[in-house]
Amino acid sequence: MFRKRKDKQYNIAMLKIKNLSIRYRSTGQLAVKDVSFDLDEGRILAILGPSGCGKTTILNTISGLLSRQEAMVEGEISVGNGTSKIKMTTVFQEPRLLPWRNVLQNVSYGLEAKGDNKKEALERSRKVIASVQLQKFEDYFPAQLSLGMQQRVNLARALVCNPDILFLDEPFSALDIETKANVQALFKKILTKKKITSIFVTHNIKEATVLADKIIVLSKGPASIENILDKKKLNEIPKEALNYFESFDE
Ligand SMILES: Nc1ncnc2c1ncn2[C@@H]1O[C@H](COP(=O)(O)OP(=O)(O)O)[C@@H](O)[C@H]1O
Ligand SMILES: [Mg+2]
Repeated sequence: MFRKRKDKQYNIAMLKIKNLSIRYRSTGQLAVKDVSFDLDEGRILAILGPSGCGKTTILNTISGLLSRQEAMVEGEISVGNGTSKIKMTTVFQEPRLLPWRNVLQNVSYGLEAKGDNKKEALERSRKVIASVQLQKFEDYFPAQLSLGMQQRVNLARALVCNPDILFLDEPFSALDIETKANVQALFKKILTKKKITSIFVTHNIKEATVLADKIIVLSKGPASIENILDKKKLNEIPKEALNYFESFDE
């Protein structure tokens, strides 16, 4: 029933992107140009770049949310070891919870929808809700929760499906500064502890350095890779570069 995470290992590629280029069919606009990177299992990658550069386009292409009818995609995307099916889930900027379902019902919804045993689904949901520190709020409805709490429910709803890769698109940008710091710390703790392979999009350098093991820095659109920074090298970023990154934050 619950897949053990103990077998998760670093240094095994979970995702390999090679020469990815993406063009929207409706406008003919090239949104992403020749992007290559890889990500090991259990690691957190940040895609950092200015607003409108093509971050969401990259994320949605990898996760399958952007259809090939909408965009022409060139290059290679290989996920997992290519043999077993990989589960992917996305956490969006807005929590998008179902307003008529309480916290527990929101989290268990995905499991119930795919036909899991209801009792087991609830049991598993309760555990995940506890991991985002909302065990006292299981009966609350979204409108009764702060935005930060709603975003924690949103994460719980993604985690309950036990994804092999978790995508997060600017998950903290709707939160006020203080809430943001707390929710970021909690997300980081959970993703690291559970070794969830994650890719998150941000235009904030501080957020990227706090959360990620690896950062890919994109140019203005069409997005191409300006730099790939390993966590160990983050201290070596020159000040001019930091100022440049901070200019992404409007
Ligand atoms: N569905 C779409 N159809 C056509 N163009 C799009 C679509 N979605 C995004 N774009 C364009 O692609 C570029 C990159 O957008 P996006 O990936 O959303 O940027 P970011 O997430 O970095 O802010 C922008 O110029 C945007 O206008
Ligand atoms: Mg975006």
